[in-house]
Amino acid sequence: MKIILLGPPGAGKGTQAKSISSRYSIPHISTGDIFRKNISEKTSLGIEAKNYIDNGQLVPDDLTINMIKSRLEQEDCRNGFLLDGFPRTVIQAEALDRYLKLKNESLDTALLIDVPRDFILDRMTGRRVCPSCGASYHIKYNPPMILGKCNICGSDIVQRKDDTEATVRERLDIYDSQTQPLIDYYRSKNLLSIVQGTKAINEVFESICNILGRDYNDNN
Ligand code: AP5
Ligand code: MG
Ligand code: ZN
Repeated sequence: MKIILLGPPGAGKGTQAKSISSRYSIPHISTGDIFRKNISEKTSLGIEAKNYIDNGQLVPDDLTINMIKSRLEQEDCRNGFLLDGFPRTVIQAEALDRYLKLKNESLDTALLIDVPRDFILDRMTGRRVCPSCGASYHIKYNPPMILGKCNICGSDIVQRKDDTEATVRERLDIYDSQTQPLIDYYRSKNLLSIVQGTKAINEVFESICNILGRDYNDNN
C-alpha cells in the first residue's frame, strides 16, 4: 500500500497518519517530522532547513527530494508507505513518480483531507506536539490523558514554533499557490480520493478506512 496524504496545514494529516499507519502496518513518513528531528539534533540538514520552516516557507525541492528518497530506501518501506507532507510541489510529485517508476512501482492513492480555512487557525493555535514521537494533540479537540504529556511516549508536549498566527497564514498561502495544484495532478491520474476533515477525529478515520478498504491485519 503506497499512499500520500494531501491537505492544508492543520487538516489532520499527522493525526490520521498515526492511525492509518498502525491499522495498515505501513510506516508513517512525515517530511515535517524528519526536518524537525534534524533541527533538534542540529544536523547540517536541520541547520539548512530551520529558517525556511520557522518562517513557513517550503524547504527547497532538491533537499527535500533527496531526503525522502533515502528514507524510502529503508527496509520498512518495502511493503508500502504513507507519506505525510510530501509531495508538496509539482516538482516533488514528478520526482516521486520517476523514483517509483524506476522500481516498477506506483502510488495507490492520493488522499486529500479537505478542511476549509476557517477551521484551521483554531486547530493550529491549540495544537501541541510531541517532539519525541511526533504525536499531535489539541488542547480542546484531542487533549492528552495527562496534562502536558504525550500519551504514547510520556514526553512533554510543546507548541510548534511555526504555529503562530502570522506563520500559519503564510503556510496557507504557500499551500494555495504551491501544493493545491497537486489535487489536479493526482485527479488527472485517477488517484485522488477526498475525505471531509471537518468531522471528529474518529469519524474522519472511519471515512478514510472506507476509502482504503477494510482489508487489514487485526493483530496490529
Ligand atoms: P508539516 O509538519 O508537514 O506541516 P503542515 O503541512 O503545515 O501540516 P501540519 O503538520 O501543520 O498539519 P497536519 O495536517 O499534520 O495537522 P495535525 O494532524 O497536526 O511541515 C512543516 C514545515 O516543514 C513546512 O511549512 C515546510 O517548511 C517544511 N516541509 C515539510 N514538508 C515539506 C516538503 N515536502 N517540501 C518542502 N518543505 C517541507 O492537526 C492539527 C491540529 O488539529 C492538532 O492539534 C489536532 O489535534 C487537531 N485536529 C486534527 N484533526 C481534527 C479534527 N478532525 N477535529 C478537531 N481537531 C482536529
Ligand atoms: Mg503534520
Ligand atoms: Zn510522544
